[in-house]
Amino acid sequence: MKMSRRNVFRFGAAAAAMAAVPRARADETPAGGVSFASVKESLRFTMPSYKGQCRFMVVGDSHLSIDDARGEPFRQYSGRMAKPYRSALHFRTGRPIASPDGFEYALAEAKRMKVDFLALVGDIVSFPSEAGVEYVRRRLDESGLDWMYISGNHDWHYEGLPGTEMALRAEWTKKRLAPLYQGADPMMASRVVKGIRFVFIDNSLYEILPEQLSFWRQEAAKGEPVALMMHIPLYMPGYGPREAGCAHPEWGAKVDPHWQIERRPQWPEAGHTQTTFAFREAVFSTPNLLGVFVGHVHRHFFAFDRGHVQCAVAANADGSFFDVRVNGGL
Ligand SMILES: [Fe+2]
Repeated sequence: MKMSRRNVFRFGAAAAAMAAVPRARADETPAGGVSFASVKESLRFTMPSYKGQCRFMVVGDSHLSIDDARGEPFRQYSGRMAKPYRSALHFRTGRPIASPDGFEYALAEAKRMKVDFLALVGDIVSFPSEAGVEYVRRRLDESGLDWMYISGNHDWHYEGLPGTEMALRAEWTKKRLAPLYQGADPMMASRVVKGIRFVFIDNSLYEILPEQLSFWRQEAAKGEPVALMMHIPLYMPGYGPREAGCAHPEWGAKVDPHWQIERRPQWPEAGHTQTTFAFREAVFSTPNLLGVFVGHVHRHFFAFDRGHVQCAVAANADGSFFDVRVNGGL
């Protein structure tokens, strides 16, 4: 979805809370009270409980398919995903660009804007080739940006390799994607930048692990404004299980037509675990939640639950990103 007009939201519950304490000083204001506006890829948040200013970029779904001779033995597992996204129409100019120019454009824009932080929300590479991972790490290092990364469903996936998805993710995130985590746990990590706590959770299998739920609760309780970074959108009423599938009540084998194409096990008959549903509840019950930032669906969309926004970023294959500014006060 391309946003062509200005959209401004004042979150109702928080606004009501503010109205109930009209003489509260800013430092007594309850957490929350976030205002949000978007114009195309530019997002603006105002958070009364926040004291500073922060500008960050969100990039997902670059789908780089860089490979070399070292990838030869894996070609049978990387071949399908090596074909798409090699070219795209630039999201601003409409002119054709070839991979990896979308990724390069976002890095150049991030540097030009002097963002405080770059969040990479998965499917940056289409398969875990050494050459692809080396390229991404080298370009990020050369950019001088402060960045963090979490995997999508493709980054670690060589399609058709035997084994459970959980085991394959554990194996290939360690074996190949390790340089992108900069020593952090591939499943969950956080960093505070300019007073905002950025929490990264790997939900690339749609499911949330018990330790990830605990991690979220611990991190969110620390009190700063908290931004959740994942690859797959959380369930939002009105969206289907392939658009917003993490904790979607209909997610499961019946709505998984692509498992044979992607050469992976089908989603389970039983659907999500209780942990995954509990995670979604915990996220949208977090009073100091700035927002949820995801990719996977390859188009911008914004959806709300209990006054909190989830922002899905369009695929960076065409250069797309979110330019997010957070300000304190009103
Ligand atoms: Fe994805």
